[in-house]
Amino acid sequence: MPMTESNPFLSQSRLALDPEDRQAMEAALRHAIAFREGIDGGPARPKLRPADLVDRFSGPLPETGEPAPAVIEALATEARDGIHPHLSPRFFGYVIGGSMPVGTAADFLVSAWGQNAASSWESPAVAVIEQTVCRWCLDLLGLPADSGVGIVTGATVANTQGIMAARDALLARQGWDAGERGLFGAPEIPVLIGADAHSAPLAALRYAGFGPGRAIRLDTDGQGRIRLEALENALNDCANPPLVVLQAGQINTGASDPFAEAIPLIHRHHGWAHVDGAFGLWLHAVPALRDRLKGVAQADSWAVDLHKWLNAPYDAGLSIVRDRAALVAAMTARGAYLPEPGKTWEPSDSTLELSRRARGVPSYAILRHLGASGVRDMIARHCALARYLADRLASDPGITVLNEVVSNQVALACADDATTQAVLDRVQTRGRVYPSHGLWRGRKIIRCSISNHATDRADIDVLVEELLAALREAG
Ligand SMILES: Cc1ncc(COP(=O)(O)O)c(C=O)c1O
Repeated sequence: MPMTESNPFLSQSRLALDPEDRQAMEAALRHAIAFREGIDGGPARPKLRPADLVDRFSGPLPETGEPAPAVIEALATEARDGIHPHLSPRFFGYVIGGSMPVGTAADFLVSAWGQNAASSWESPAVAVIEQTVCRWCLDLLGLPADSGVGIVTGATVANTQGIMAARDALLARQGWDAGERGLFGAPEIPVLIGADAHSAPLAALRYAGFGPGRAIRLDTDGQGRIRLEALENALNDCANPPLVVLQAGQINTGASDPFAEAIPLIHRHHGWAHVDGAFGLWLHAVPALRDRLKGVAQADSWAVDLHKWLNAPYDAGLSIVRDRAALVAAMTARGAYLPEPGKTWEPSDSTLELSRRARGVPSYAILRHLGASGVRDMIARHCALARYLADRLASDPGITVLNEVVSNQVALACADDATTQAVLDRVQTRGRVYPSHGLWRGRKIIRCSISNHATDRADIDVLVEELLAALREAG
């Protein structure tokens, strides 16, 4: 095959795939499958830390390249021990989904297709698939069917987009065109947010120019839910219609704000209710659990992840805004070479990015594979497993379940912080299971999140066994 003079790996072949490229792709697939098959029974934590990996990956950029198959072989083998098996059914840290195999397989296609998902003209199949994901998710989540939806990288960006749409709409109601005039000199928008909100919506406030420091933090109850009295008092003090950031699924307790009472109150003050529902909003997909989020569908915007409870591969989340026009006005960026506004559904109208990968496709595959009942069953099963975990630990005086278990999150603490830390360290070091750390009401906690599609009762039994064994050793 003819090669360029300067670099033998810049192929001049008109074939999109030469034999070495094919070999590289096949090697990647082989290694991907071997990795997945090795998860079961392997440790739920990585063997190596960043410092152990520096020598393997951090050399100077080589002047001459390597053949594609060699690069892939090296990557797969050299990274292996530094890969955290987040997708192990015994990984209980943070809130992390299991990158479901059917979604991962679809993700291979996404990379192979190399579509720029910005435009329906350029990537017709992807645009239709992603629009379907949006429709299916609105339906599953019980949110208004005509809402605007952007498929974004995750809940942080989803929160940012929702807050930006709220900002522009609230300012427009006061006669200020933020899209044209920006924020300098704009009327005030009061911002209210719960004292136990996740850091992501606080960052989103910063990105949107609100400054989290000027937000009014609302008092919360023992589970992290805003107190209605605090909300009401703060609303009464607002000179202008406010933005109120609510939460479905507190990271430590899984508890949700009292939407049924809070949202009508916010609307009575002509405010905008935004809900950070990164994982918790999925409870609304399950009829039997829907009451735990009663009234959430009355909000003006929502942020939810696909890569957490739906178990989509990273990175994927949804930015949902009831008034699609408000989302599009805040997000759209049309150049003369792009489709005419208003004629077609354009993915880029609802996201901060123009060019991006077709990140909705893996979720389409997962939704089609599980069906609505499969998604509902998975969410309900995880909640039941969280309850089972709490019940199994209830009789042990050495470990306390700190939260009311209302979703998939269980917050555990031992008699004092030192013991909690020692137990967590032992459990993580042994590596049969992997819960993570947290801080709740001034106490160190062991946080267990049940959000992997494959986790079952036997995995919870191992988690209990490991926690109790570590407690005995620590004591
Ligand atoms: C309640 C909540 N909001 C927002 C986020 C941020 O989500 P992401 O990491 O997908 O941006 C998280 C992540 O755990 C979360 O639990």
